[in-house]
Amino acid sequence: MLRGIAPLLVALAPLVPVNEHAAGGIAAGFTEAEIATILSHGPWPPAPRRDPTNRLSGDPDAIALGRELFFDPGLSRDGRISCASCHDPAKGFTDGLPRAIGLERHDRNTQGLHDLALQRWFGWDGGADSLWSASIRPILSPLEMGADAATVAARLRERLGAAERLAERLADRQAGREAAATDEALLVDAGKAIAAWLETLVSPRSPFDEFRDALARGDEATMRTYPAPALRGLKLFVGRGNCSVCHAGPAFTNGEFHDIGRPFLVERGRVDPGRHAGIRRLQADPYRLTGRWNDQPPAEGPADASLRTRTVVLQHRNWGEWKTPGLRGLRATAPYTHDGSLATLRDVVGHYSELNLDRLHADGEALLRPLKLSDEEIDDLVAFLESLDARRSETPRGDARK
Ligand code: HEC
Ligand code: HEC
Repeated sequence: MLRGIAPLLVALAPLVPVNEHAAGGIAAGFTEAEIATILSHGPWPPAPRRDPTNRLSGDPDAIALGRELFFDPGLSRDGRISCASCHDPAKGFTDGLPRAIGLERHDRNTQGLHDLALQRWFGWDGGADSLWSASIRPILSPLEMGADAATVAARLRERLGAAERLAERLADRQAGREAAATDEALLVDAGKAIAAWLETLVSPRSPFDEFRDALARGDEATMRTYPAPALRGLKLFVGRGNCSVCHAGPAFTNGEFHDIGRPFLVERGRVDPGRHAGIRRLQADPYRLTGRWNDQPPAEGPADASLRTRTVVLQHRNWGEWKTPGLRGLRATAPYTHDGSLATLRDVVGHYSELNLDRLHADGEALLRPLKLSDEEIDDLVAFLESLDARRSETPRGDARK
């Protein structure tokens, strides 16, 4: 898309007047297309939005209950594992392990849980189409918490105040559903309450956001406070690196699935097919949006949240594709990628630098090529990624190289 016009704009770039007193200074280092891309990574934070498929979304009581449930090991079969066992808030809601360990060892890396209200598919393979169904799944998964509806319902009924508040809402359930709170209805409401809380987890503003807003209003003085290595890394990110094509928008993800050539062998003779498995999981999931638990009243066209679930098609190219992760707050969430096989951000950037094209499917090939970065360029891209994090960077600031 932008690729076609980018060379033209590069050719025109020297014509942009460099004026130290206007926005020309730092902005002049970028093409018009690059500036448009930088601005598209904000503003931040996003306006809060409600999930029309979850009637507890945005409800203060549900949010408070969801938070309690997230930390409650009583929702697991052995009474010892809570969501927070793997999604530790101190580690950006991850566990620091390459692959998660619940009741059994998981094949995949624990995902962070920020900025999920902006997402459409959940899980590395997009096997869930709503945040609430993605919150029910780990409770039932034999690898994770291994519980059943009866365990969860009993736990909810024990929490008297919470159960009462919930019961009031259950009374207004849609026509066609039973009025009494069955175990399964309570399980679904537990998932919806947890999702209502997860929706409130938004990454804090980062040094990049200060830079981006300063660029938007032509505030050269503030732009100059952005560290020079991060600035050079940003130029690579939106330019030659082509990273913004997939890591797009304010949360730095297009929400889609791609193959960047990471391994999908879990162990000898066993593969994790990624999106291919995700679509199958979705089609078998009783809590998907085309099922009876979706709270959205009938809607036409794209306003109908279940449209994407009804129209998703299983294709061979989905084999080995994974969801593009967002890139905010990464300092806390190492190791990286679906199998946790890259230990540091430097390793991730190194992977893109030395990419093996033979390992990619058609989709990746069109968008990716080995970048052959110098050591300094790798440092710069890492410094940029770290500037998407509110936590202070250890990268030395402001050296004059450019
Ligand atoms: C055993 C560790 C473990 C436990 C316990 C666990 N999770 Fe996860 N979580 C994971 C892993 C691993 C993934 C990636 C799963 C996949 O790709 O299929 C994940 C993914 C997610 C996602 C998708 C995030 C995204 O960006 O798509 C959500 C939401 C989530 N978990 C919520 C929860 C909730 C809510 C609980 C408690 C009810 C929970 N998890 C319990 C390990 C765990
Ligand atoms: C073709 C789409 C695409 C492009 C282009 C792309 N990425 Fe990615 N990125 C992905 C996908 C998909 C993953 C997850 C891969 C996996 O789990 O195996 C990923 C993973 C990552 C991660 C790990 C994040 C985490 O939480 O585990 C980082 C960091 C990253 N990319 C940075 C970059 C940078 C920097 C560039 C540019 C040099 C770039 N990406 C270009 C799609 C892309």
